[in-house]
Amino acid sequence: MLSQETRDIIKSTVPVLETHGTAITTRFYQLLFESHPELLNIFNKMNQRKGDQQTALANAVYAAAAHIDHLEDIIPAVKQISNKHRALGILPEHYPIVGENLLKAIKEVLGDAATDEIIDAWAQAYGVIADAFISVEQEMYREAETQRGGWRGFRPFVVQRRVAESEVISSFYLVPQDGKEIADFLPGQYLTFKVDIPGEKYTQRRHYSLSDAPGQGYYRISVKREDGRGDIPAGVVSSYLHNHLNEGDVLYVSAPSGDFVMKKPADKPVVFLSGGVGMTPLVSMVKTLLQEQPGHPVTYVHAAIHGGLHALQEDLNTLAEANPNLRYHVVYEKPSDQDKTHKYFSKEGFIDLDWLKQVVSADSDFYFCGPTPFMKAMYRALKDWGVPDNQIHFEFFGPQGSLTD
Ligand code: FAD
Ligand code: HEM
Repeated sequence: MLSQETRDIIKSTVPVLETHGTAITTRFYQLLFESHPELLNIFNKMNQRKGDQQTALANAVYAAAAHIDHLEDIIPAVKQISNKHRALGILPEHYPIVGENLLKAIKEVLGDAATDEIIDAWAQAYGVIADAFISVEQEMYREAETQRGGWRGFRPFVVQRRVAESEVISSFYLVPQDGKEIADFLPGQYLTFKVDIPGEKYTQRRHYSLSDAPGQGYYRISVKREDGRGDIPAGVVSSYLHNHLNEGDVLYVSAPSGDFVMKKPADKPVVFLSGGVGMTPLVSMVKTLLQEQPGHPVTYVHAAIHGGLHALQEDLNTLAEANPNLRYHVVYEKPSDQDKTHKYFSKEGFIDLDWLKQVVSADSDFYFCGPTPFMKAMYRALKDWGVPDNQIHFEFFGPQGSLTD
């Protein structure tokens, strides 16, 4: 239990730390990896290079500190992060290491302004915040392990089948090597993979959304190959999966995780908006929704640059043929003449608010996922239209970021 004095110090210093937020977390990661290079087997270096991870961690620590009197208010945010932590295999013994280096970074960046009193207050507050994360995560480990077909840690899965879905996206169908049952999942959830790649010094961990409906006896993921461009190197794991992973090969997978899931049962019309490979969780959702609530009004809009990059076409065409209540629209930025003959081709260019107003109602539940510029455009359009936040649901294919900057 923190004393009132400690709480007061924390609350009065949150704004100061926020001003230096990214400087502190950038220094924190340097210190963390100098003292514990083995943690590079867990963290994705690329997320730090882009700064997304620093911002996400800083925001989470300060949000928690600002709510130190009522940590229960931020449990939904803790759960979103803890889902990722659990999937990645973060353990209670990791927390003191992070705490120690965070405090060192705060001291270094604030200099003389960081009195012993302030540092001591933050050490205590970090302890309370860490305990909240640890207890949520321990419960998540228990649930993942004790559910039917569940497991703890990373379980070997065999690639049963791989299917090219577009010029850059391939699906991998995975079955457990032990031949036993697999855990059920909620559409929208993801699997996390631990991959050792020849030539890479550290183990890589990445998340991939489950792209098929649950209950099939296999897990399907659909991965976009992130090619290099000019000086920018190709994505490490996606290239490895595309270039080296064949039927019969083994991948290490942690049990399904994530809180991007559908409201059940759907009570309003449901609108799915996907950009590029962001379609994976939404295809799982739309398939399941139409199985569980056939006849429910559903609109699926997929945006791609052109038809050659449009994946999972067979899944969506089959659904649209079988469900007259599913309105399916395809939007291509730069369609070829042949792309314009796609049965569901609806628009050339981008999804914009004027067009959305013609094809869906604002009184719907919206689910979207895609590249960050796409997500920002969808969010802005829905907000401009007056859609309330509780009808807007989305997933980032990276650290949670902001859709408003
Ligand atoms: P990384 O090596 O991590 O690199 C990331 C990107 O940065 C690449 O595009 C790379 O070309 C670029 N890059 C490399 N070096 C530099 C540099 N020096 N400067 C600038 N840029 C650089 N992906 C899917 O394909 N399908 C999914 O269903 C899916 N679901 C996801 C679900 C969740 C919840 C999350 C968080 C992510 C999901 N992702 C999905 C994304 C996936 O986890 C990986 O981030 C993605 O495959 C890229 O990983 P990588 O190892 O190939 O690239
Ligand atoms: C991801 C916060 C402790 C390892 C994240 C994210 C946040 C966060 C906000 C981004 C979530 C997202 O992707 O949307 C915190 C807070 C902590 C804490 C507030 C302490 C109270 C830890 C510890 C470890 C850890 C102890 C292990 C050493 C990671 C990793 C990721 C992550 C590996 C994913 C980053 C990546 O993509 O590589 N954390 N975290 N975190 N966290 Fe933590």
